[in-house]
Amino acid sequence: MKENIQRVLISEAQIQEKVKQFAKELSEEYAGKDPIFVGVLKGVVMFFGDVVKQITIPCQIDFMWISSYKGTESSHMEVKRDVSVDIKDRHVVILEDIFDTGNSLEFTYKHLMEKQPASLKICTLLDKPERRNPAVTVKADYVGFTVPDEFVVGYGLDFNEYYRNLPFVGVLKPEAYQ
Ligand code: IMP
Ligand code: MG
Repeated sequence: MKENIQRVLISEAQIQEKVKQFAKELSEEYAGKDPIFVGVLKGVVMFFGDVVKQITIPCQIDFMWISSYKGTESSHMEVKRDVSVDIKDRHVVILEDIFDTGNSLEFTYKHLMEKQPASLKICTLLDKPERRNPAVTVKADYVGFTVPDEFVVGYGLDFNEYYRNLPFVGVLKPEAYQ
């Protein structure tokens, strides 16, 4: 596992510091608003658990699982698992692992907006702006770290479903792709 990592981009300590900061900001902004935090599976699982554990106000959690057909546009995405809580007139925050092309966040955002929440914001741990699809209009309200245009793994992010359990975010060695 770790021997396949070329370098650590964001350490466990840096991630946990950011998680603490997000949880504080979200707890302040959503005080008295009874928010729902929606995680987009599976990549967000570590970030989601760490953030919500440190939220100090009443809140609910829910999950979505969407899937895309590789190399295609957001119109070819589908909802595999929808939120189960009624979010109409509720304050909703989408938590994501990475804002890459933005196709999945755009799709998720529009999908949830159709349910008429009172508000809808996006909190992403990582942002890879160089890869953004120019057609994507959605913006992230909270961004943890901006990363270069490299494939990253760890802390929920995978390569072929592996490396999600690493506690940091790193770049794979080229030979690990073969
Ligand atoms: P999108 O390109 O912004 O729609 O991102 C789609 C999904 O691809 C993300 O939610 C991640 O699960 C995955 N992804 C994007 N970039 C990376 C990466 O560098 N490493 C691992 N997964 C990634
Ligand atoms: Mg994801």
